[in-house]
Amino acid sequence: MKITFSLIKADVGGWPGHANVHPDLIKIAEGELSKAKKSGLLIDFHVTHCGDDLELIMTHNKGENNEKIHELAWNTFKKATERAKELKLYGAGQDLLSDAFSGNVKGMGPGVAEMEFTERKGEPVIAFMMDKTEPGAFNLPIFRAFADPFNTAGLVIDPSMHSGFIFEIWDIHEHKSVKMKIPEEIYDVLALIGAKSRFVIKRVYPKEGGKLPVDEPVAAISTEKLYQIAGKYIGKDDPVALVRAQSGLPALGEVLNPYAFPHLVSGWMRGSHNGPIMPVGVKNAICTRFDGPPRVIALGFQLSNGKLVGPVDLFDDPGFDLARRKALEIADYMRQHGPFEPHRLPLEDMEYTTLPKVMEKIKDRFKELKD
Ligand code: F6R
Ligand code: MG
Ligand code: MG
Repeated sequence: MKITFSLIKADVGGWPGHANVHPDLIKIAEGELSKAKKSGLLIDFHVTHCGDDLELIMTHNKGENNEKIHELAWNTFKKATERAKELKLYGAGQDLLSDAFSGNVKGMGPGVAEMEFTERKGEPVIAFMMDKTEPGAFNLPIFRAFADPFNTAGLVIDPSMHSGFIFEIWDIHEHKSVKMKIPEEIYDVLALIGAKSRFVIKRVYPKEGGKLPVDEPVAAISTEKLYQIAGKYIGKDDPVALVRAQSGLPALGEVLNPYAFPHLVSGWMRGSHNGPIMPVGVKNAICTRFDGPPRVIALGFQLSNGKLVGPVDLFDDPGFDLARRKALEIADYMRQHGPFEPHRLPLEDMEYTTLPKVMEKIKDRFKELKD
């Protein structure tokens, strides 16, 4: 049985500031998706939030990029926006960049991770959601789960995944994509995805000869760049990802283990700072300190004919306490740099800048260097 797993998210108003999502918005989304489930459009759903992002987790059998599913998400965000406006939530409707839906939410503001696949006998799926960072923040943990034998023992000792995986990598500046083989092209892959603001892992596929169909993704990551879509800064493109696990794929614990290292990501305050990504349970997915530090949550489900058996709040676990403590220490360390790089992003990556105005003001005072 083919199932489509869709995770579509948008920031339609923060509470307060950019910290959290108001419970009314969650209720509205649950109401809309519950109607869609009754009508048979959805098989199942779960609504949650990460920081100020409203997250719609949905299963159905309509395939990826389905107009009806995307329209449902769009209308749900619209309805939540109406309430956000009544409550004067912060930045109400900020990620809805268009007035009218035109067939697909891609390019209209919301972030999307979707994959269609044949549900296995046992099908664990993890929905990852990040706030106050960008799509490239998933490069390191996805790479480590599917390509790093020091993280994923199965790459070395499980015959069903020993041959590796295929990474589909997007160049989000040039709007091009390439499929590359792991482990054959591992150094070339790293040459690209280490530059995470430009090259992002979009999907991971199994290889020929394994247990899984080669044309069905085993991981998918949202790659929307809000500030590129809108042409101006209107908020961070906080990413989401879906990862299938076990039985020829990295085990659940191998998919989660990379988050025990709170790596540095771009985003945080004003989308203009580097900081550690902190794995937290949903109750702690609230961006407070300097609008952060950036957070990641992970909800685990078993699929049963498309029904979502779960969620299990996977980072709400003492196993990640040390990562959280380390993230806070790194946050302190980075914060002490104030406006200096590398805490502040390099000029070309900042999403707020006063530099053109400052330069204009003092341009006549600049003198040619004589020596
Ligand atoms: C980052 C983010 C926040 C805001 C910051 C300033 O993605 O959304 O850090 O950039 O709170 O917001 P404004 O300019 O709306 O006051
Ligand atoms: Mg916001
Ligand atoms: Mg957000």
